[in-house]
Amino acid sequence: MTPYALRRLQLASQLDSDSVAIIVGNIEQVRNLNISYPFHQDNDFYYLTGFNEPDCVCVIRPGHDTPYVMFARDNDSYQEVQFGARAGLKGLEQNHSVDKAIDISEFEGTIISLFEKRHKLYISDNHGRFHNQLGHWLTARQPDHAFDSVKVYRSIHQLSPMIAQMRVIKDEHELSLIKQAAEASINGHIAVMKACAPDINERVLSATFNRTISDYGCDSVGYGNIVASGNNGICLHYEDNNQLCKDGDMVLTDLGGEYQHYTADISRTFPVNGKFSDAQAALYQIVLNALDASISLVKPGAKWNTLFEANQRVLAQGLLDLGILSGDIEDILANEAQREFTVHKTGHWMGLHVHDVGSYQLPSSDEWTVLEPNMVFTIEPGVYIPADCDKVDEKWRGIAIRIEDDILVTEDGFINLTERAPRTIAEIEACMAESHS
Ligand code: GLY
Ligand code: MN
Ligand code: MN
Repeated sequence: MTPYALRRLQLASQLDSDSVAIIVGNIEQVRNLNISYPFHQDNDFYYLTGFNEPDCVCVIRPGHDTPYVMFARDNDSYQEVQFGARAGLKGLEQNHSVDKAIDISEFEGTIISLFEKRHKLYISDNHGRFHNQLGHWLTARQPDHAFDSVKVYRSIHQLSPMIAQMRVIKDEHELSLIKQAAEASINGHIAVMKACAPDINERVLSATFNRTISDYGCDSVGYGNIVASGNNGICLHYEDNNQLCKDGDMVLTDLGGEYQHYTADISRTFPVNGKFSDAQAALYQIVLNALDASISLVKPGAKWNTLFEANQRVLAQGLLDLGILSGDIEDILANEAQREFTVHKTGHWMGLHVHDVGSYQLPSSDEWTVLEPNMVFTIEPGVYIPADCDKVDEKWRGIAIRIEDDILVTEDGFINLTERAPRTIAEIEACMAESHS
């Protein structure tokens, strides 16, 4: 059985036997006139089908003798010559374990008949494609039933939260793909560090990453590349990547390759010229200590917020020791005064999406999510001191540092999936020295 079939069974076992689940795939998005953006499948849809064509809807009917129905585009020789092969309806039934494949052009006329007399509809329609039809589906009669047949009153429920609960715990197939994404991305980061030198353009480093992850099997990146030299790193999602890297500055890189739909998410920060200045090294070490403080707490049973609190304490104490903050450490933490320089929260689930689904707090309570084996997430503390921040000594200004690792929770602790990407000062300087020697 494929991992996708197993997930459909797991999902169906949680649904009412009296229900129909509808999972809507993505459609192509126009970039300009007849040019589309590269297609990316809806993540819930891909998780349950492994099918990567646009314009599909998957229907799951628990306990039915044809439980897995797929609406999709049929074969069309003209379109396929223009834009690539399609599985086609026969192909879906023969090669993709679909019980019944129906042309997507028949969706609106057919979907109601698939409801039969079932009362509950679950829907994952992340872009609201069929939003306006939900009201009709609640009470619609079967098209082929007599007018005076008993009407079925249905209720509609969101499916995505149930899928999210599944997706937050990765299965073996997912873990193998995430590890491939991480390995390719580590190699990409090493190549970027080695390529870096004064006066190189950020865009060349960005392209170096893309070129390297292609060698290791990635089709794309999981999010826009961030290669931010000097003060550009102050912008958390800087994607212009078009400035020259200046001697004496640092480069903050946040780059993750996507391997068969699963992404990595790694940040590394290093000096353009390969040697940390004293000020850069002092700030860098605080951020690395903060990251390591969080990572060391990862194990089943740990609460999500404790990771954030641990790195904020290390960052605040470090900024205090360097004279960037002043006052009492407990007051600073109580008022979150360090956030002026640490700015953002420091982690998120990761998988099919870089900011993957899954909750951080239990619904309608103050309880934080408790870590379980096979969860995967990032930890990514940072310190950002704008070039025009005249309240700190000049030597700290214009330094932006983020270090981000991808962590897998195991039965008794964790694996840092991205540890091999140089992260200590000594590792980074040694890596960069190799290319400069
Ligand atoms: N690369 C986006 C993030 O780190 O969350
Ligand atoms: Mn991240
Ligand atoms: Mn990142």
